[in-house]
Amino acid sequence: MKTYKINVMPGDGIGKEVIDSALLVLNALPLKFDFVFSEIGYETYLKKGTNLPEDTIENIKNTNATLFGAVTTPPDIKNYSSAIIKLRKLFDLYANVRPCRSIPHPISRQDVDLVIVRENTEDLYSGIERIEDNGNKAITERVITREASEKIIRFGFELAVKQNRKKITIVHKANVMRETCGLFRKIAYEIYDEYKSKYNQFNIQMDEMHVDACAMQLIKNPSQFEIIITTNLFGDILSDEASMLVGGLGIAYSGNIGKNNAIFEPVHGSNPKNAGLNKANPIAAILSAKMMLEYLNETYYAEIIEKAVYETIKENNTTYDLGGNKTTKEVAEKIREKVLNFLK
Ligand code: NAI
Ligand code: MG
Repeated sequence: MKTYKINVMPGDGIGKEVIDSALLVLNALPLKFDFVFSEIGYETYLKKGTNLPEDTIENIKNTNATLFGAVTTPPDIKNYSSAIIKLRKLFDLYANVRPCRSIPHPISRQDVDLVIVRENTEDLYSGIERIEDNGNKAITERVITREASEKIIRFGFELAVKQNRKKITIVHKANVMRETCGLFRKIAYEIYDEYKSKYNQFNIQMDEMHVDACAMQLIKNPSQFEIIITTNLFGDILSDEASMLVGGLGIAYSGNIGKNNAIFEPVHGSNPKNAGLNKANPIAAILSAKMMLEYLNETYYAEIIEKAVYETIKENNTTYDLGGNKTTKEVAEKIREKVLNFLK
């Protein structure tokens, strides 16, 4: 049996608790894991003077995949920047994949099954900022390149093919940002043409929508969306919005995927207020681990975890955010029990 070497970065706040839960569930599977633990985030910074030590970077390089919790990024330290945003750029983890699917719970709408495919390295998160006019004018540069756009759009098309989807929606604001969004949109049509000529039976429809209309349509009629492909900031905002259709940040999971490396993480942050209280919903982290298994081509076990999560939710064994009164550990134990049952 193959051994998967997994880099685990719990990080700060509730990151630690939810990653413990994900490991509890992974360890129930008859797979061999060699877990390597890495430090990252604000606590690491206080101890070592950096939020992203060299060993952590090496561990990402030398493992099959990384499972990450969350980091605290204090806004008031000069020149401090989020460790995960640095990693996305450093490893060119260009695709941020955020699935959003109905859960069997009254808090969730029942007509949602979409994936937001978000460009993860440029756009308004370019980090290119300056101050002019004696501090009275602040400028952030929006950078859209052909290279990054082609990569993310192709990634979205491949995902659509793999998941047997019928529709791709390109989200932009090219009516206003004519150059940056214009380039992104143009490349989307080029790739659409390429796919239509590459596969003669290509029956996935691509259409486009302005980001503001998309924000509205997500609430009005989410079932019209299957795969949304968009730029970094729009994808960040739309994915938090979309998560609220189906139960919120406590269950929203994601993958940062590049050519050679990938980091899987809950969409939520370190939620310092609830850190150490055994209250946080561990499902976002557990489903991130599920997504990591899909990336490792262990789809059978990924499905078992997903089924176990859905059954646990259905039986109301949930944390406070889904209306339940269970602790982080209790929910994780329940999911682990169900995984073991499915494996019998
Ligand atoms: P947050 O995601 O930590 O918390 C926002 C709200 O979401 C919380 O008040 C809570 O109600 C809810 N929530 C989040 N996770 C939950 C869970 N597992 N179970 C139940 N409810 C949950 O975001 P916030 O407050 O904006 O940021 C806190 C810190 O996290 C900041 O330092 C921020 O920079 C950092 N952050 C880190 C991210 C990452 O590591 N990828 C992503 C987002 C924020
Ligand atoms: Mg966000």
